[in-house]
Amino acid sequence: MAANSAQARDIAYQVHPQTNLRLHQSEGPLVVERGDGPYVFDDTGRRYLEGMAGLWCASLGFSERRLAEVAYEQMKTLPYYHTFNGRSHPQSIDLAEKLIEIAPVKMSKVLFQSSGSEANDTAIKLVWYYHNAIGKPKKKKIIGRTKGYHGTTAASVSLSGQALMHADFDLPLDGFRHTDYPHYYKLAEAGESEEAFATRMAESLESLILAEGPETCAAFFAEPVQGAGGVIVPPPTYFEKIQAVLKKYDMLFVADEVICGFGRTGNRWGSETFDLKPDMLTCAKALSASYLPISALMISEAIFEAMVAESEKIGIFGHGYTYSGHPVTTAVALETLKIYEERDILGHVRRISPYFQSRMGEFADHPLVGEVSGVGLLAGLEIVRDKTTREAFDPAVKIGERIQRAALDHGLISRALGDRLALCPPLIIEEAQADEIAGAVRSALDDVWSEVRPEGLAAVG
Ligand SMILES: Cc1ncc(COP(=O)(O)O)c(C=O)c1O
Repeated sequence: MAANSAQARDIAYQVHPQTNLRLHQSEGPLVVERGDGPYVFDDTGRRYLEGMAGLWCASLGFSERRLAEVAYEQMKTLPYYHTFNGRSHPQSIDLAEKLIEIAPVKMSKVLFQSSGSEANDTAIKLVWYYHNAIGKPKKKKIIGRTKGYHGTTAASVSLSGQALMHADFDLPLDGFRHTDYPHYYKLAEAGESEEAFATRMAESLESLILAEGPETCAAFFAEPVQGAGGVIVPPPTYFEKIQAVLKKYDMLFVADEVICGFGRTGNRWGSETFDLKPDMLTCAKALSASYLPISALMISEAIFEAMVAESEKIGIFGHGYTYSGHPVTTAVALETLKIYEERDILGHVRRISPYFQSRMGEFADHPLVGEVSGVGLLAGLEIVRDKTTREAFDPAVKIGERIQRAALDHGLISRALGDRLALCPPLIIEEAQADEIAGAVRSALDDVWSEVRPEGLAAVG
C-alpha cells in the first residue's frame, strides 16, 4: 500500500462504522469511486454489482441524473431553511402531504429527520411524551426484538436486539426489553408448525409484558422483515397474533419501514405485505433513493392530539433537528417518489421478484445452505455446517465473511450478517442482474465449500 494512497490515508484519518478497527488497519478499505445503474466501480476501475444497494437503500441505483438535477436546482433556489419555530418551505410541505397520502394506514402528521436512527429515536421520545400527555406516566417501557435493528443512537440501539452494538457502550439504556425474533428455521421446536411457532412467539411477548407489568409497557417496535438480523421473514399469522397482544395491553405499535418502505417487499410498504396497523411508522433509505440523508416519522391523529396538548402545557414541542425537513433533501425525496410512480417501480419489483426469489431458492440444495428466505427483492441465506442437524459453524471459521469475500472476488457486493448472507439489490435490477447475482453467489459458495470441506469443517453428506 503506497504511503499516500487513498487506502493509507483512509487508515490514517477515518474511523469506520460497523468495522473491526484493528483489522481495518491491516486490510484497509474498498474505495468505491463511481456508480452506474446497479453497479459501482472501485478505484482500480473494477466493477461490482451492488447486491446490497449500499446499505439496503440505493433503490434506484447509482446514476439517476434527475435526482442530481433537482438537488442542484433546489440548492440554487433555497439551499437551506429550517422548520423550527413555525418556519416552513414548499418542499417539506409537499413531501409531508405526499407521505400522508401514501401511508399504509391513516396517519395524521409527519416529522422529518436525517436518518433512520433519528426517526426511531424520535418515535421512542414520542412514546414517552404521549404517555405523559395522556396521564399514564408509568407506561414507559419499550419492547424490541432479538436481532432487531433500529439504528445506533443511544436510544435506537437500546431498542435494537444487537448484543455486539451494546457491548461496552454501557447499553441498552434502562426501560428497553427484547422479545424473541420470529426465525422459524432456527427457533422452531421439533415438529412445530409455522402457525404454532407464531402462537408461541406471541405468547412469549405476552409473558414478557405480564412479567414487566402491563401498566409499565408502552410500545413495541418491529421491522416487517428483519434486515440486519439476517433477512428474517416472519411466518404467516405472526404479526396478526403479535398485534392482538399489543391491543390487549394497550400498547403502541411502531413499524420500522426503514428497509421495507417504498417497494422492497413487493408492496409499497412492508406493513401492507404483512398487514400491520401501526400507530407510528418510520422510513428513510429509499425515501430519497439514499441520494441525500432524510427520514420521516409518521404519527396517528391520537398521538398528534396528545402532543398538541402537551406542547400547549409546556409552552413548546421541545424537539427537532437543524436539518428536519431540509429543502434539498425533501426536494430529492419528492422527486424520488415521482420517479417511483412514473416508472412504476413497484410494478417492476412485482414482475422481477418472483424470478429473483426463484434464483435464490436454487441455493437450498447447496451443501452449505440450510435455509433461503426472502420476499420481494430481499433474500437471506443461512450457512450451516450440517444441513440435517442445522448445526452452525464455529464462529472462528467466519463462514459468512468468507463467503462475502469470495462473492466480492466474483464481482458481487453482498453482506454477511453472522452466518447469514444477505442480498438486497437496487429495485431497478433486471433478470440479467438476478442471474449475475445468482452466478456470483454460486461461485462463492462453491469456492468456500472447496476450502472448508477438506479442512473437515463442514459436515459431509
Ligand atoms: C430497519 C432499520 N431501521 C433503522 C436503521 C437505521 O438507519 P440509519 O443508519 O439511517 O440511522 C436501519 C439501518 O440499516 C435499519 O435497517
